[in-house]
Amino acid sequence: MSEREGIDTVAVHAGEARRNAYGSLTTPVVATSTYAFDDAEELRRHHAHEIERDEYGRYGNPTVRAAERKLAALDGAEDCALFASGMAAITTTLFAMLRSGQHVVLTADGYRRTRQFVTTVLPRFGVTSTVVAAARVEAIAEAIVPGKTKVVLTESPTNPYLRVTDLDALGALRRAHPGVKVLVDATFATPVNQRPLAHGADLVLHSATKYLGGHNDLLAGSVSGSEALVDAIRGVRGVLGGVLDPHPAYLLLRGMKTLGLRVARQNASGLAIAAALEADPRIERVFYPGLPSHPDHAVAAAQMSGFGGVVSFIVRGDGDRTTRFVDACRVAAIAPSLGGVETLIEQPWRMSYFELDAEERARIGISDSLVRLAVGIEDPADLLADLRSALDAAFAA
Ligand SMILES: Cc1ncc(COP(=O)(O)O)c(C=O)c1O
Repeated sequence: MSEREGIDTVAVHAGEARRNAYGSLTTPVVATSTYAFDDAEELRRHHAHEIERDEYGRYGNPTVRAAERKLAALDGAEDCALFASGMAAITTTLFAMLRSGQHVVLTADGYRRTRQFVTTVLPRFGVTSTVVAAARVEAIAEAIVPGKTKVVLTESPTNPYLRVTDLDALGALRRAHPGVKVLVDATFATPVNQRPLAHGADLVLHSATKYLGGHNDLLAGSVSGSEALVDAIRGVRGVLGGVLDPHPAYLLLRGMKTLGLRVARQNASGLAIAAALEADPRIERVFYPGLPSHPDHAVAAAQMSGFGGVVSFIVRGDGDRTTRFVDACRVAAIAPSLGGVETLIEQPWRMSYFELDAEERARIGISDSLVRLAVGIEDPADLLADLRSALDAAFAA
């Protein structure tokens, strides 16, 4: 991002040519799997890097590249690579960075499939890991095995407890261990609320399916960082093949233009709803980094410009009452995911953690009464009214 431009100007303009071949204001969807060459001489010049052009869809696409340039600018990165989903971004990045015999430090309270990949798939390739508590940089430091640990992967804020890692402390840790790369999955924060690269992280990842796309109508993932690192990851993407199709890339480009407006609304509604729920005697506990009651509030207030649209909370009573509450919501839809314009609600134990038995859920702190609310851009008064009438219904039964 330029020093002079605000994030909304960057979101609207960055990455897209002022004037393209068609004179169209918006970036065209270049729907092609391959690219034609005039003759053998053009092909030779392409392979010799004497000209810049595309060759085959798995290696690049102009619409995807425009979205990559825009997101790189938003993240404050030299470069960005997009993928078919957040998980494609995470798995390709880790495959690109790790070799047999190396070690990963991963923080808990994170996306379950990331943890599954690190703890059950990577070991098949000789990569070991240590999972440490979320938001504790000293625990990450203790888990680093000198000479062996290559990657520290953390999320901030986390899911579902919205734990926030001190990114300056993480940056200092990174400088103390030159062989270790620090990766931050900042899906819940977006570049509007937090920019991990500015604090010293090597790479920032997003499930662009969430706030960046913003309309619950696409799957995409990203990794941003230095040109050298992203280029190496892009090379592995061309081998593994988890590329983003140009059609969702267009939707992502369009979604990112309104990122700042949407996230500002979601920050404001998230904070208002979290405060209202905390004041409601029917709610046992609220987890939201914008509330002084959150364990990481001070860190969040120092490093984030907004606290996001996800609010987790525990409804008083048993899990059945919580289910009655969730079922009674009329504006919030029962669905996984977050970050879109529609408000979504779920009981994590019935959604992401449905495969775990009660004992396992208790061990990782997923109570049957826990709710995750992903606030959309509807009128906050309507969202609060929906939650209150659903609570009335659940407590009347
Ligand atoms: C923090 C985080 N990272 C990664 C992912 C995976 O992204 P995707 O669903 O786009 O593959 C998710 C999805 O929920 C997520 O919440």
